[in-house]
Amino acid sequence: MFVTFEGLDGSGKTTQAQLLTARLEAEGREVVATREPGGTELGERIRDLLLHGGHVVPWAEALLYAASRAQHVDEVIRPALERGAWVVCDRYLDSSAAYQGGGRGLGLDTVLELNLAAVGGLLPDRTFLLLLDPAEARTRLPGEHDRLEREDDRFRARADAAYRELAARFPERIVCLDASLPAERLAEEVYGTLRVRS
Ligand code: TYD
Repeated sequence: MFVTFEGLDGSGKTTQAQLLTARLEAEGREVVATREPGGTELGERIRDLLLHGGHVVPWAEALLYAASRAQHVDEVIRPALERGAWVVCDRYLDSSAAYQGGGRGLGLDTVLELNLAAVGGLLPDRTFLLLLDPAEARTRLPGEHDRLEREDDRFRARADAAYRELAARFPERIVCLDASLPAERLAEEVYGTLRVRS
């Protein structure tokens, strides 16, 4: 199974990815826990350029995230799935559709198409989208903000709207969760959904 977690910064998706990984490992399954941007040596270097470098124009940003993803799928995700492991990924192509397609205004379809080409069409089996009011998400951010986290509320609102549109378009794949609920309760929902649907 290929499972991804999505949501605005501050939505708690990383915590949920970690809780699911721990639970699957406790069942004795092989789990590859990974994240984007990153997950490979090239990807981590791209991550640094994107999050801690200077100005990046929207198209360069979209292409760099897609480049990191292409490497990640080829080096890590596809081989893991082929040997029967679970892959739990903190962000994947829906992040690009939401942030670059919606937030930067490049267009949902354009960015999805670019990314599907970059990953040879590989979509997750299940995506958990942690939905939270964008203003609330901002208050949950840590003290030190990276380049994307420094964007304004309008950017976050556009990314949030794009996430909701993706969920409406792909109801079979994307499961929406209320990120304001306690982490343990969300973890139960995640695990329960996977047991029912897998
Ligand atoms: P993330 O790893 O969630 O940040 P953190 O380490 O702070 O938890 O993601 C880094 C940022 O990159 C985040 O603001 C969202 C953004 N992002 C995109 O804009 N497009 C993408 O395709 C991805 C994967 C991330």
